[in-house]
Formats: sequence, C-alpha cells, structure tokens
Amino acid sequence: MKLIVLDSKHFDSKAAEIAYQHLKRKQEISLGFATGNTTIRFHKALAKKIEENKLDVSKINTFILDEYIGLPKNHPNSCYYRMNEQLFKSIHLQPKQIHFFNNVQANEDLHISCDQYEKSIESCGGIDIQFLGIGLNGHIGFNEPGTPFESTTHVINIDENSRLSKAYMFESFELVPTKAITMGIKSIMMAKQIFLLAKGNSKADIIKQALCGPITTDIPASILQLHPFLTVIIDTLAAEKIDKTE
Ligand code: F6R
Repeated sequence: MKLIVLDSKHFDSKAAEIAYQHLKRKQEISLGFATGNTTIRFHKALAKKIEENKLDVSKINTFILDEYIGLPKNHPNSCYYRMNEQLFKSIHLQPKQIHFFNNVQANEDLHISCDQYEKSIESCGGIDIQFLGIGLNGHIGFNEPGTPFESTTHVINIDENSRLSKAYMFESFELVPTKAITMGIKSIMMAKQIFLLAKGNSKADIIKQALCGPITTDIPASILQLHPFLTVIIDTLAAEKIDKTE
C-alpha cells in the first residue's frame, strides 16, 4: 500500500495531478469512478487537467461504481448525473464510453443488470484504475458492513447510517433511496490499481480502522489492505489518527 497524505487546501488538485499522471500512461484504459462529496472537486480538477493537456480520451472506458435504485439517470442525485456533471461532460466522453446502471427500478430482474455489468467490465479488459471513496462505516461502493468479500455486482439495502449521511442531498431522509446496485467487493478488488480517497476529520477513525485494523467484513474497506496496487490519498485531517500511532 502506498499512502499519500496531502494538505487539505490543495487536496483536490494534487490528487487529480497524481491520478492524471497514471491515467495518461495508457490510451486504452478503463476507469472506475465513485461519487460522493470527497470526489466532487477531485473530478472537476481531473477534468481540468485532461482539458488543459488535451489528453486524447477517445479510447477511455468508464464505469460508475454504483447507483441508487429508483432514480432515473437524469435525477440530480443519481450517480450517473453527478459523474456526468463533474467529469464526463467536460471531457466530452461519448455515451458508449460511459458504463452505468441505467434507470434501475426495484421491480426489474436486477440479476440481469448485475451480470451484464460484470460482463461489460470483462469485455473492456477489466478496470485498470478504480477510484474509491469510503463511507463512515467503511463501505466502498454501496458494499455495506457484512457484505461478503466474494461479492460481485449486486443489489443491496443501504444502511440507515449511510442513508443519513446522504440525506443532505435529498429533501428529507425519507426520500433517500433504500436500495442500491453496486459493483461487489470482488469486482472492486479485481481492478488492476485502486486509489482510495478520503478527506476531513470525520473520516479519520474509519481510515485508521480500514488501513490498520483487522481485515473484516465489518469494515468492507479493510479488504483493500490485500490489494497489491492500492494507493491511499488522504488529507492531513483524515490521516490524523494514523499519524499519531504509525
Ligand atoms: C458512491 C460511493 C460511496 C462513497 C462514500 C463516501 O458512489 O461509492 O462509497 O464513496 O459513501 O461518500 P462521501 O465522499 O460523500 O463521504
């Protein structure tokens, strides 16, 4: 594991610079993206880098890590909408370059969508770089505590705590969807390289538990300790607890 601690003020631009240096190495590359507060400005800074350097993105494939069930793709809180606004639109990706869970509804047979997602990842040669955030309970994607490490893309009930942490985006807690579809922990671990991003002192405890504690399904992100090419990019606030003891 490589740990990079950045000052909070320049977190997004520096993290984007690091990511950019990796993704420019290969033209035909598959990238996995997570949404959330942590990555908003990172995505925007990455878009800026790509534009400024006129990077050819025509052979990039992207995969959105997860989606709320029941939100159409044009809903401002859908992961698709957010990724499009934060990054894809600015770098002019074509629709065929964006893989996402399209208008997933609770009444569909979602097993089919899950299998198709795994197949589309495979057909693009696997994910080269997966960007991740981390939930306060250690979730990655929407893989909540207790999710088996062997899980592939699946449907999950969103934890009450996770719904609470996302309530600020919706008009009320009740409107936060209760289910999501997410790449599984195994699907994430199969990425050739993983970047885990976290910032702010609210993430300090979970970062310590995930990176320095036992590997357990209680803290889904703890499995990342076993990934051969994991880069953790966090700010000084999120690193507070590990700085003191490590
Ligand atoms: C969302 C996702 C989640 C978030 C996590 C952190 O696509 O994958 O795992 O990365 O909930 O969210 P923020 O950054 O809002 O704290």
